Amino acid sequence: SKNFKLAVVGGDGIGPEVTAEALKVLDAVSATQGITFDKTEFDLGAARWHKTGDTLPDEELEAIRGHDAILLGAIGDPTVPSGVLERGLLLKLRFTLDHYVNLRPSKIYPSVGSPLANPGEVDFVVVREGTEGPYVGNGGALRVGTPAEIATEVSVNTAYGVERVVRDAFARAQARPRRKLTLVHKNNVLVHAGHLWKRTVDAVATEFPEVAVDYLHVDAATIFLVTDPARFDVIVTDNLFGDILTDLAAAITGGIGLAASANINPDRSVPSMFEPVHGSAPDIAGQQKADPTAAILSAALLCEHLGLVGAARAIEAAVTADIEERTGAPRTTAEIGDAITKRAAG
Ligand code: IPM
Ligand code: MN
Repeated sequence: SKNFKLAVVGGDGIGPEVTAEALKVLDAVSATQGITFDKTEFDLGAARWHKTGDTLPDEELEAIRGHDAILLGAIGDPTVPSGVLERGLLLKLRFTLDHYVNLRPSKIYPSVGSPLANPGEVDFVVVREGTEGPYVGNGGALRVGTPAEIATEVSVNTAYGVERVVRDAFARAQARPRRKLTLVHKNNVLVHAGHLWKRTVDAVATEFPEVAVDYLHVDAATIFLVTDPARFDVIVTDNLFGDILTDLAAAITGGIGLAASANINPDRSVPSMFEPVHGSAPDIAGQQKADPTAAILSAALLCEHLGLVGAARAIEAAVTADIEERTGAPRTTAEIGDAITKRAAG
C-alpha cells in the first residue's frame, strides 16, 4: 500500500474541528483505496503564538517541507494583532513553498441552490495567483499617525510569476469541457501590471488555440458573478482580486461552508497545501456548529493533486450525496463528518 506523509495544521477557531472531520473522511477513503496517510500535527496558530511568540519557526517549516501535502484548517484570531498570523504563518507557508496556483472551484449543487434567483448551471474554477501581487508585503509607511501619513502597498507582478500561473490556468481550461478562460484584472487603471497580465495571456493563448479567451475588469466581473455566473469556466487573476472574487464566488454557490481550496506548487517534491476558503470563525469555535464540508472537499483536492483520483472522486461523491439529502435540520460538525465518512467508506 502506498503511504503518504501528511502535515496537519488545524490552526485557530473552527480550524481544528473541521480538520478533524476531513481527516476522518481521508482515513475512511484511504482504507478502501489501499493507501495510508501518516499524519504529523503541527501546533501552530494563535495559542502557540500566545505561549511562545512563534508563528512558524524555521525548524517546523523545514519539517513541514518533508511531507507530501499539508492539510490546514484556518488561521486567525481576534486576540492576535491583525496580520501577525496571516503573514507569519499562512502567507509564509504559501510563499516559502511557492504555492503559486491558488485553486478555488465553485459550483452550484442543485439541492443547495444559490441566493441568486436564476443562476443557471454554475461550475467554474478561479486560478488565483498565490505568491505575488499586493500580498508580497512590499510597502511602507511614512509619518505614521500624522496628517501627512503616506502608506504604500506595492503590487509585485513578475513576468516569470504571471506566465507560470497563466500557463497553468490555460492547461486547466484546455482539460475542461467548455475550454474557456477569463482574465480578470483592472488594466484600465493598473496599467503596468494589467498590461503584463494581458500580454502574457495573449502570448500563452497561441499555444492553446482551442481555449476561448475573454477579459473582464474586476468590477465588471463582480457584476457578472451575480447576474450571469454560468458564463465562467476558468478565471485567472492576481492574488488580491482572486481573494475577493472567491469569497463572492462562495457566496453565490452555497456559501462559504462549501468552498474548498488548494495552494498548489505543481512540483510534487514540495508539499502543496489544502484548506477551506473560510476563516477561523472564532464566534462559533468549539461549539460543533461549523460545516466541515469545505475542509472535506479540500481533502478531495489534496487526493487529486497526489494522483489519488479514485479517492478524490469517492470523497466528492460522498459529499454530493450528503448535500443532496440535507434537510435544513441542524447537525453538529461531527455529525456531518460522520455522515460523509460513512458514505465515503462505501
Ligand atoms: C484566504 C484568506 C487569506 C488571504 C488571509 C487569511 C490572509 O482570506 O485564504 O482567502 O487573504 O489569502
Ligand atoms: Mn480570502
